[in-house]
Parts: sequence; structure tokens; C-alpha cells
Amino acid sequence: MLPEDLQCLKTIGIMGGCRGPVWVSSQTLAASLETSPQTASRRLKSLEEQMAITRFMRPDGQQIAITRLGEDILHREFTEYCSIFERLGREFVMSGVVISGLGEGRYYMSLDHYRTQFADTLGFIPYPGTLNIRLTPASVEIRKKLDALKWTRIQGFTSENRTFGDARSLPCRIGDIACGIVVPGRSHYPEDIIEIIAPVELRRVLGLTDGDSISVEVIP
Ligand code: CDP
Repeated sequence: MLPEDLQCLKTIGIMGGCRGPVWVSSQTLAASLETSPQTASRRLKSLEEQMAITRFMRPDGQQIAITRLGEDILHREFTEYCSIFERLGREFVMSGVVISGLGEGRYYMSLDHYRTQFADTLGFIPYPGTLNIRLTPASVEIRKKLDALKWTRIQGFTSENRTFGDARSLPCRIGDIACGIVVPGRSHYPEDIIEIIAPVELRRVLGLTDGDSISVEVIP
């Protein structure tokens, strides 16, 4: 079907033509399509010949209904748009493998200053530790894009003459579990590693060991 015919079919659909016959004058249709009434009439004739619509001519105008075939054509179009936007909505899915760190996460995540700030910003009290994930090269590129999103700043503090640095966090999901990505404020942080905090012990709940694949999704 030609794009201009499809455009006309869509306009009739918006007028309610899939639910039953609708009154259509060439003038109003022409105005919606930003074309002349003559062209609008030609498109209707073409749609009728392709059996996408049926027309009932009346002295005061015409009633038009979209046929089953016409509806199938529109539905195909709809499905194609859905696939475009579903893919867009999932542009921040990163995958990688679970790895072990130096065991520092447990220490930092047990400090009250950090715990309360994470609880306030992410809405859960984190399990004491961070799950480290080594990202695939493609996911490293997605990780870089995350820097443009709005992160929450976690403030550092001083305690017993020791300074604990700033960090930043971003909500994310692993399956159904609401988690957070945490990036320490240190300037040199490996770009292919992310650290995840969660309300639960992810290794236990998801049965993870080092080397297992895992996906993390950020929904902006
Ligand atoms: O440094 P590393 O990531 O190995 O350890 P950690 O941050 O001290 O965390 C302690 C352990 O808990 C590690 O095995 C983490 O992978 C794990 N963990 C978890 O299963 N679920 C979380 N939400 C956080 C950490």
C-alpha cells in the first residue's frame, strides 16, 4: 500500500472507522490530510479498490468503514511502532559477569552515614556489600551513556580522623529487584566494572557465583 493511502486509512481509523461506518466529507478528510478534496477522493477510491474500506454513498456525503483487511494493515503498522519504542525503552540494559572484589564493599556499606543516605535516595536499606559486575564491551558503551543521566550524590564524611569520600548512585533493576548502581568518587575507577547495591543478598537470592552472567537495567 502506498504511504499516502496508508496515511488516509490511518486518518479514517482515528475518526472511528474501525468501530463502524463514519460520516466523511471530502473536505474534512482533505483538511486532515493537508491536501485537496480531489486528491482525498482519489485516495478513498484507491483504498476501496484495495478493499481496505467500504463506502456507502449518500446524497449528503458518504459513510466509510474500515474492512477487516484495512484493520490488519493498520495493526501491522502499530506492531512495527511498538517494536521501535520497546527497543528504545530498553536502551540501558547492561550485561556482564559476576566477579569478586576486595571485600571493601561490605565495610563501606555497613557505615551508617552511607546506609542512611542510600536508604533515603533509593528507598531501601542496602545489604552490606556491593555485587561487582564486569561488563561486556558493548555494555561498557551503555555504561558511559549513563553518565548523562541524573545521579544522586552521596556525601562523604569524616570520622575518627578518617575521610570517607563522596559517591553517586543511580536506581536500576535486576529482574524484579530494585537495586542501585554505586560509583565511588575516586577519579580512577575501571570503566568495565559496576557495583550494585540491593535490599537483599543477590548472590543468595539469585543463586549467583563468580562468572555467572547477569543483566542490569536502568529505567531513566
Ligand atoms: O568486594 P566484594 O564485592 O567481593 O565483596 P563485598 O562488596 O564486601 O560484598 C560481600 C559479598 O556479598 C560479595 O560476595 C558480594 O558479591 C555479595 N553481595 C550480594 O550478594 N548482594 C548484594 N546486594 C551485595 C553484595
